[in-house]
Amino acid sequence: MITLDILRVALRWVHLGAAVVWIGGTFFYLLAVRPAILSPEAAAGWRKLRDGVERQFHEIVRLCVWTFFISGAILTYDRLTSVNPSLDYIVVLVIKVILVGWMVFIAGGLRRSAPPAPAAARPKSDRGRPGLLRRWSSPAVRIAIVGSIVLLLAGILNVVAENAIRTQ
Ligand code: HEM
Repeated sequence: MITLDILRVALRWVHLGAAVVWIGGTFFYLLAVRPAILSPEAAAGWRKLRDGVERQFHEIVRLCVWTFFISGAILTYDRLTSVNPSLDYIVVLVIKVILVGWMVFIAGGLRRSAPPAPAAARPKSDRGRPGLLRRWSSPAVRIAIVGSIVLLLAGILNVVAENAIRTQ
């Protein structure tokens, strides 16, 4: 029993850790790294640095995604077998998994990262948009928003599961 509890804690620790790295890393990129390297003074050296940061972070995200798939599947199995889950729990979990799938899609999937496309190679529609709008609709912003919703759903799952345990 104690061993199982230790495994449960370890699993949640890994799952939560991956959430901190991916979503926390995305916010750090949006709030600290990107403003710094998009400043008007940014020279070619900065742009190269940004490409390097993005490629490196993509590798970390791939690792986080595999961690989520494995730890999330075990967490799901554990919850579904130890607690009699209500329909609410299943619905919230399905929405969460769909949103995670969308985040993985936005993040460029699980393939190895290609070097970011140079501005000239980006779609014309993208290049024509005003800077602020383009920045707000960037993949990183969408991942930060959807990721925050996924974190909220994780909290809801926890409360729904705890309520189910209490009423059993
Ligand atoms: C396919 C992928 C995923 C699956 C199947 C999955 C499944 C689960 C399950 C079943 C739980 C336990 C909820 C409960 O307390 O009953 C959980 C917790 C959690 N999930 Fe996920 N998850 C996935 C991806 C993600 C992602 C991408 C994030 C981050 C954005 C995330 C963040 C969390 C957090 C913060 C918790 C709470 C951990 C805790 O209470 O210790 N999950 N997840």
